[in-house]
Amino acid sequence: MSIRPVRHIVQAKPAIEGAGVRLRRAFGFGDSAATDPFLLFDDFRNERPEDFRAGFPWHPHRGIETVTYVLAGTVEHGDSLGNKGILGPGDVQWMTAGRGIYHQEMPTGNEQGQMHGFQLWANLPSSLKMTAPRYQDVVSKDIPEVTDDDGTVVRVICGEFWGKKGPVDGVAAEPHYLDVSVPPNQSKTRPGETNSNVFAYVFAGAGTFRDASDPQPIMTENLSANGEEKLTIGNRSLVLFDQGDNVSVQAGPEGFRFLLVSGKPIGEPVAWRGPIVMNTQEELMQAWADLKDGSFIQPS
Ligand code: CO
Repeated sequence: MSIRPVRHIVQAKPAIEGAGVRLRRAFGFGDSAATDPFLLFDDFRNERPEDFRAGFPWHPHRGIETVTYVLAGTVEHGDSLGNKGILGPGDVQWMTAGRGIYHQEMPTGNEQGQMHGFQLWANLPSSLKMTAPRYQDVVSKDIPEVTDDDGTVVRVICGEFWGKKGPVDGVAAEPHYLDVSVPPNQSKTRPGETNSNVFAYVFAGAGTFRDASDPQPIMTENLSANGEEKLTIGNRSLVLFDQGDNVSVQAGPEGFRFLLVSGKPIGEPVAWRGPIVMNTQEELMQAWADLKDGSFIQPS
């Protein structure tokens, strides 16, 4: 069994999406080979209602899945299939856009003005790009939580972990989507998905992802300005792992909370424009032509 080395650490960067929502993007709209099957990860945690009130009004998607995980505040959603609902703290929505949907996602902060959550885009293989659209709305209480002897808590949103299976199913890339909280100063080794791409996104506390007994080579991305190795990884850091078996984690004195996400690479060409991701330019042009002539939404 090998520990996955850290390949890359990047800070999420400010971006503006929807009708003017200020968020941070950890990756997206670039070369997606390193994160395949995942295309984009947005962190929309914000405490200023004026930064997110405009929301994400009606827009189309085709060829992908979007995964929305809310931590605070609510997101009201509606779509062209007649689905409607509100995601609250701890809830998840896993949307398979397939051949096409129109939807809107409108965030509202809680009493403290907080709107906290994340959105992940997962690609669909060519065989499923034109599948029927599907929503899986999962309320917080249906997400299993496992607690280890050392106090580590893992919410299992998708995939299997320590014998618990997440409620989301039927997803192409066999993804695992875990919300992991490690108590202060604890170390953990988690069995990884060997043939998957794996990333972590840190959103509370700080820590490292290396095995103390097996030091990893120092990479330039991990060097601070004075050339010293940066040992701790904190809020809004995306950590991309190299191939291997296990993921090793050490929490700092404030504890460490992060999403741990893995999926099997699809390995197909990506043709991407805005909210539509296909395999070829031709399919992309077809999608935009369908939008224009009103045939984008097909009755089931
Ligand atoms: Co959307």
